[in-house]
Amino acid sequence: MILDRRLIYVTGKGGVGRSTVSAALGLACAARGRRTILCEVAEQDRLSRVFRRAGVGDEEAELTEDLWAISIDPWAALRDWLASQLGSRMLSRVLFDNDAFRYFAAAAPGAREMATIVKVWELTLPDRWSKGAQTYDTVIVDAPASGHGLGLLRTPGTFAGLARVGPIRKQADRVSELLGDPERTAYLAVALPEEMPVNETLELERALPDAVGQELDAIVVNGLHPRRFAKPELEVVGAAAGSSAPARHALAAARTEGHRARGQQSQLARLRRRATAPVVTLPFVFAPELDREDLDAMAAELERKLA
Ligand SMILES: Nc1ncnc2c1ncn2[C@@H]1O[C@H](COP(=O)(O)OP(=O)(O)O)[C@@H](O)[C@H]1O
Ligand SMILES: [Mg+2]
Repeated sequence: MILDRRLIYVTGKGGVGRSTVSAALGLACAARGRRTILCEVAEQDRLSRVFRRAGVGDEEAELTEDLWAISIDPWAALRDWLASQLGSRMLSRVLFDNDAFRYFAAAAPGAREMATIVKVWELTLPDRWSKGAQTYDTVIVDAPASGHGLGLLRTPGTFAGLARVGPIRKQADRVSELLGDPERTAYLAVALPEEMPVNETLELERALPDAVGQELDAIVVNGLHPRRFAKPELEVVGAAAGSSAPARHALAAARTEGHRARGQQSQLARLRRRATAPVVTLPFVFAPELDREDLDAMAAELERKLA
């Protein structure tokens, strides 16, 4: 069961509903009684607006029963990581207050990404780095959109290659082990039922095994419009002229909606044909802004469909 893994890594391009699906997954895990934390990587996207109002920041904050959230700032993660490597938080702060150090740290390829993924791994540990820190049963990563978040997944391997021995190597290996362990880690892709997102998802499915040595566990197709009209009905609607302006507007709206639903169904079918991972769907919610009730409904649907 995907919802019982320790780490759930959610990928997908911006705007497909990745943060919304991550939040719904978080609620689903919490409802199973698992202590769960939602992580977003800052400077990229933001957590679902519903939770953003709760003021999620760099500190772990409780959103609702059994559900926590953190926004990982790659700089703060790098500072903490350095502190753990140096064995001194003070020394790390001294270095970080130094402009020259920041300049070099910014230029070090992958350092902030490495610190970020190490932070994610650290959140999964039963013995957290700082004493008295919460422990979690599930960590959900709302991965950055760039390159499907694959870059972040590749960093431990890159670092392991650079540091052949020593503590960094050991840590990088442990992160890689977690990312490549299907018992502990699940990979989910979120997509819209549209041509480009479907193509990108198929591409991600092909690229993932090379990055982490594991297959995609599931694809969540978000924002599916209902099929309100059967084909013969659509033909009737298409042929109707409408004798007044309101009637013509209603007919145009029905045609657009009918068209959209059919386009989505054909992209969904294409994804199902071409993808290896199981494909589950979430409906488009007709509301100006999603609220907690909408997220709970999505959570229940994911719980049922991902079982
Ligand atoms: N199934 C859905 N139905 C209706 N609106 C949705 C749905 N999923 C997401 N949204 C809305 O779409 C917008 C983008 O969603 P978000 O989760 O922030 O995307 P991402 O994190 O991929 O950029 C938000 O305003 C969100 O409320
Ligand atoms: Mg987002």
